[in-house]
Amino acid sequence: RGPLRSGNGLRIIAHRGFRAAYPENTKSAFFASLGRSHMVELDVRLSLDNAVVIFHDDRLSRCSNAAVIGPKLGLADDRVANWRLSDLRLLDLGGWFGAPGLPAGPERLPTLAEVLAWARHCRMPLNVELKDQGEVRKNALLVQKSVQQIVAADCTELVLFSSFCLDMLRQALALAPFISRALLYGGPPPPDLPEQLATLGSWACHPEQHDVDAALVQRLHAEGRAVHVWTVNERRDWQRLAALGADGVITDCPALDARC
Ligand code: G3P
Ligand code: MG
Repeated sequence: RGPLRSGNGLRIIAHRGFRAAYPENTKSAFFASLGRSHMVELDVRLSLDNAVVIFHDDRLSRCSNAAVIGPKLGLADDRVANWRLSDLRLLDLGGWFGAPGLPAGPERLPTLAEVLAWARHCRMPLNVELKDQGEVRKNALLVQKSVQQIVAADCTELVLFSSFCLDMLRQALALAPFISRALLYGGPPPPDLPEQLATLGSWACHPEQHDVDAALVQRLHAEGRAVHVWTVNERRDWQRLAALGADGVITDCPALDARC
C-alpha cells in the first residue's frame, strides 16, 4: 500500500516543491504546493556533520549565495557535504531565484525533520528522493537517518522513497520495508527492470517522460506498480501520459485544477 490513495485522475507530484514559481526545495515552495498537488517531491543529502538536509545539487552555488557567504566562513568549497548544518543555515536559498513578490528576507535551508513535521501536520505525502552521495558509507548513513526521522515523525505512511541508486533503495527496504519505495531511472527501461522492481518490492516506478509508452505502463500495471513520470511540465504531455494510463506526473508547475 502506498502513500497516495486517490486514484481519481493523474496524481500531481510537485517537483522540488512548486519549482516554476518558487525557489526549489524551500519551505516557500513546499507551502505553495498545498492545495495544488497530491504529493511533494524533495531531495535529501547529508551535511558535513551528518544532518539530513533538503537540497538537490551536490554543490551549493546554483541555488544559494554560497559564493558570498562561503569565503566569509573560510569555506572555499561549495559542496553541501563539506558544510556543517549551522553554516548551511546562514545561506539564503531564495535570492538567486529573483522572482518579485516573494516574502522578503532570506530563505533558509530546510532539514528533512522540519519538513516531516509540516507534512504530518498537513497530511501532505512526501516523495523523499535519496541522493547518491558518491560514497557507500555516507549513502548508508543517509538512508538510516532518513528512516529514523520518518519513523520518529510518525510519517511512515506519508512517505514514498525514491532513488536512482539501487543500493540505497535496497537498504531502505532492509531497514524499513513498511515505507514505500519507487525506482527512478532515466532513458529507456533497463532490460532487467521487472527483476529490479520485484527485488526492491517497489510500490511505484518513476520513469523519465520521453521513454514512456503504453506498453511500459501496461507492463508495470500488470506487475501491480504505480507509474509516476518525471519531469512533465507541458499540458500536452500531461494529456498524453493520462491517455497512456500513467498514475501521476512529477511536475515543476503543480495545478490540481488542470484537467487532462
Ligand atoms: O523524482 C524525479 C526527479 O526529481 C529526478 O531527478 O534530478 O530532479 O532529482 P532530479
Ligand atoms: Mg529529485
